[in-house]
Amino acid sequence: MATEREQTGREETPREERSHFLQLLVIGLIASVIGIALGLLIDWWPAQGSAEASQVDTLYDVLIICSVPMFVLVVTVVLYCAWRYRMKPGEEELDGPPIHGNTRLEIIWTAIPAILLVGLCTYAYIVLTDIEKAPAAEPMNVRVVGQQFTWTFYYKGDGGKEIASPRLYLPANQAVYFTVQSRDVIHDFWVPAFRMKIDAVPGIDTHLRVTTNNKLGEYPVVCAELCGLGHSTMRQSAYVLSKADFDKKFAELQKGGTKPAGGGGGGGGEETDGKTLFTQAAQPACASCHTLKDAGSTGTTGPNLDEAIPKLDDAFIKQSIQDPDAKITSGFSAGIMPHYGDTLSDTQVDALVKYLKEVAGK
Ligand code: CUA
Repeated sequence: MATEREQTGREETPREERSHFLQLLVIGLIASVIGIALGLLIDWWPAQGSAEASQVDTLYDVLIICSVPMFVLVVTVVLYCAWRYRMKPGEEELDGPPIHGNTRLEIIWTAIPAILLVGLCTYAYIVLTDIEKAPAAEPMNVRVVGQQFTWTFYYKGDGGKEIASPRLYLPANQAVYFTVQSRDVIHDFWVPAFRMKIDAVPGIDTHLRVTTNNKLGEYPVVCAELCGLGHSTMRQSAYVLSKADFDKKFAELQKGGTKPAGGGGGGGGEETDGKTLFTQAAQPACASCHTLKDAGSTGTTGPNLDEAIPKLDDAFIKQSIQDPDAKITSGFSAGIMPHYGDTLSDTQVDALVKYLKEVAGK
């Protein structure tokens, strides 16, 4: 009889209860310290490329410090209880003692998370308002347009004329005001190094402020919203340049924009090799939408070029790249393919046509 009582859910003495509670506390504390240390040691983010980045990173670290112990507490209690109070042989038919609730416990486990949540939300709100407020300096305006599956960046040039570029060039230590738009579906404009991102929504303008710091370099521009089959290929580059280099680049863009016939001048940069143009991740990013065996691409958003190109003449192909909506292949819709007449020079388009004619269908 005594042994059966021993095995059943007998009440613990207050001393046993206290010792179990202490064991739990020690395990939880050690696990929390390890969890926080790991969370802070891991390099979650790329280099800080903007003035906003350090505030966002601090916020992230504070979130880790607050949420890891909560996670560890819950997991420790669950695992400890599953192990400590597990069923022993002979107890299959038994039920534990009934529980009538504990008001004090319930108040504690409601109040602590509530205080934590309100505190963290307030802190996050303060950080967001602070990094989104307009800087004293007049910002540079850049219009960002997303479409499946590419970004185009527009600057105000001389005489108010817009200049298109497939790459984002920014001067160092510059406040920038982005106006973000989409031509088709929802995308999300994100430069992880800047720590700022915002949705590009068709039909409305969204805005983003970033102030570059003095770190020069190339940073990835990413689409952070699942936007179709080519979503993962919607990656380009942002370049933070010294003021002098930026002015030089801007002059180049301006010249290329007004006179696309000039050798390799256009916003597409200096690349004039057809295959490189076809496969590069930045614009024109042909490979993300078209199938072409020679380039190893399997996109199905646009026509299969191995099948289509051999039937077309050079002039038609050229027009299809520069102004794709002029004539549409049956089974495909207008407005899908970007008009590369805006961002590629004549030389680059010719190089693409030549490459396609050489390899398509082979
Ligand atoms: Cu655009 Cu994902």
